[in-house]
Amino acid sequence: MAKLGALLLAFLAVSCVGRPPPEATGTEIYEQVCARCHGDDLSGGLGPALGPESNSAEQDAEFLRLTIAHGRGRMPSFRNTLTAEQIDRVIEFIRSKQ
Ligand code: HEC
Repeated sequence: MAKLGALLLAFLAVSCVGRPPPEATGTEIYEQVCARCHGDDLSGGLGPALGPESNSAEQDAEFLRLTIAHGRGRMPSFRNTLTAEQIDRVIEFIRSKQ
């Protein structure tokens, strides 16, 4: 039984990692969940650049929203990690940099 408890705790810890607090700003959300793939300055890495003159700068908000919520290619989906408001906030942050 103790083993099961430890397993459950480990599972909870893993599933909570990377979930920003509800009131997190767009900047905080980006730094916490996006920067490791898209770079601290949006210049890209594992994922494409998101800054000025990037493909996503040419796309409408709906494209960004769908990509973040449902994932795209090797990018994971964030609909279970971020609320709709948080997705809007991180898009605002990206737009402010483009
Ligand atoms: C595990 C790495 C990873 C993380 C974390 C990640 N992305 Fe991505 N992202 C990718 C990859 C890889 C692509 C390219 C997908 C494709 O087109 O095949 C991508 C594509 C995108 C695109 C579309 C870019 C384009 O030019 O088509 C946007 C916008 C985007 N990501 C935003 C975000 C945001 C915002 C976050 C944080 C909520 C995030 N990503 C987190 C890897 C990641």
